[in-house]
Amino acid sequence: MLWTRSLFETVTSAFLIATLSRAALLPVSLNVSIQSENMRHILNWSSLQDACCSVNYTVRYQGEFEYMQNARWQDEPLCVNIVKTECDLTVALSSDSDYNISVLARCDDSTLWTQLPKSFNRRDTVLRAPKMDVHQKDGQIEVLFGELQNHIKINLKIWKEGDEQNASIKEITDQRFYYDVWQEGGGGGKYCLKAEAVLDLSNKRNSTEIGCVQIEEPETSWLIPVTAGVAVTLSLALALILGLMTPRCSFWLRTFMLRKEPLPEVLIDWRKPPIFISMEAEELTQTVLLLGPSQEPESILEVKETSDEEMSPRG
Ligand SMILES: *[C@@H]1O[C@H](CO)[C@@H](O)[C@H](O)[C@H]1NC(C)=O
Ligand SMILES: *[C@@H]1O[C@H](CO)[C@@H](O)[C@H](O)[C@H]1NC(C)=O
Ligand SMILES: *[C@@H]1O[C@H](CO)[C@@H](O)[C@H](O)[C@H]1NC(C)=O
Ligand SMILES: *[C@@H]1O[C@H](CO)[C@@H](O)[C@H](O)[C@H]1NC(C)=O
Ligand SMILES: *[C@@H]1O[C@H](CO)[C@@H](O)[C@H](O)[C@H]1NC(C)=O
Ligand SMILES: *[C@@H]1O[C@H](CO)[C@@H](O)[C@H](O)[C@H]1NC(C)=O
Repeated sequence: MLWTRSLFETVTSAFLIATLSRAALLPVSLNVSIQSENMRHILNWSSLQDACCSVNYTVRYQGEFEYMQNARWQDEPLCVNIVKTECDLTVALSSDSDYNISVLARCDDSTLWTQLPKSFNRRDTVLRAPKMDVHQKDGQIEVLFGELQNHIKINLKIWKEGDEQNASIKEITDQRFYYDVWQEGGGGGKYCLKAEAVLDLSNKRNSTEIGCVQIEEPETSWLIPVTAGVAVTLSLALALILGLMTPRCSFWLRTFMLRKEPLPEVLIDWRKPPIFISMEAEELTQTVLLLGPSQEPESILEVKETSDEEMSPRG
């Protein structure tokens, strides 16, 4: 009896120790944080890989909208039972309300909830200055931008050095932008550019440094008349060659095409009198005797005569 009891105590305490040590291994927090830059929101947390045999994580959030619906938590569908320790919430956090965000870790048989210490609002995103690359070629300024983001507007300011009051401001809608200084009536000289990112929903702004490029006057202006002259000469030569070739070509074509099927003689020599084919032999005519009431033979009519008249060709 005593033996059974001590065995029971030993087993129980061993179980307790095992449970407690397992529990002690689980950290109290996942150190959840969110990095939000240019309206991209990425949640991350520490890994429990070392503390658990198997582990996965589920990310949930609650904004004003979810809170109003019985204070429910919304699972982020892309981050349910995932193994990696980050989650892209860019699409999920789609309103300007405050969000509470939590990560549920399932570690073997235990679970651990960790909430982001502070609620998050996407208006707090860090707005970076636009990434821009400036090149110039033949009086054109080419500006390349990084990826354009939703909700972030980019305005590009361009001016001739020393004339910033007269800067032109262009809204960027494409990653590649061209500015033709001749078309804009600027001429050669030094041009300066500055791009500004604007986040409408928080009125944040961030600008690049000012960058300048030198646009040379075209030294190759004498080339234009020369090029035009060469072009005209070439066109004339081409026209001449084509003109020489055409009659020859058509003659050759004609002889080639017509050799196979000679025209009937009638069509070749049109001065010969036309041949008329007499229908008389083939024409089925019947002589009908129409007898009047007086039975006189003079009233015989020939149907053939009228039909012949219709068939005979003219002159
Ligand atoms: C969270 O951070 C603290 C301090 O930086 C660290 O001691 C703890 O181990 C971290 N939690 C996890 C789960 O790694
Ligand atoms: C989350 O990512 C940021 C930036 O990459 C990093 O500084 C931070 O240590 C990460 N947090 C954890 C818990 O790994
Ligand atoms: C991880 O996710 C799977 C799939 O839903 C689940 O069955 C399992 O219990 C989760 N927990 C761990 C520790 O793997
Ligand atoms: C977020 O959590 C805080 C405290 O944990 C609470 O006061 C607040 O109402 C929560 N907000 C939402 C939108 O759930
Ligand atoms: C503006 O953008 C630059 C470059 O991305 C960054 O280093 C800086 O911290 C940003 N400024 C603010 C106020 O966010
Ligand atoms: C720049 O502004 C001045 C004065 O406002 C004006 O006289 C001048 O024509 C402008 N230059 C250009 C290129 O628009």
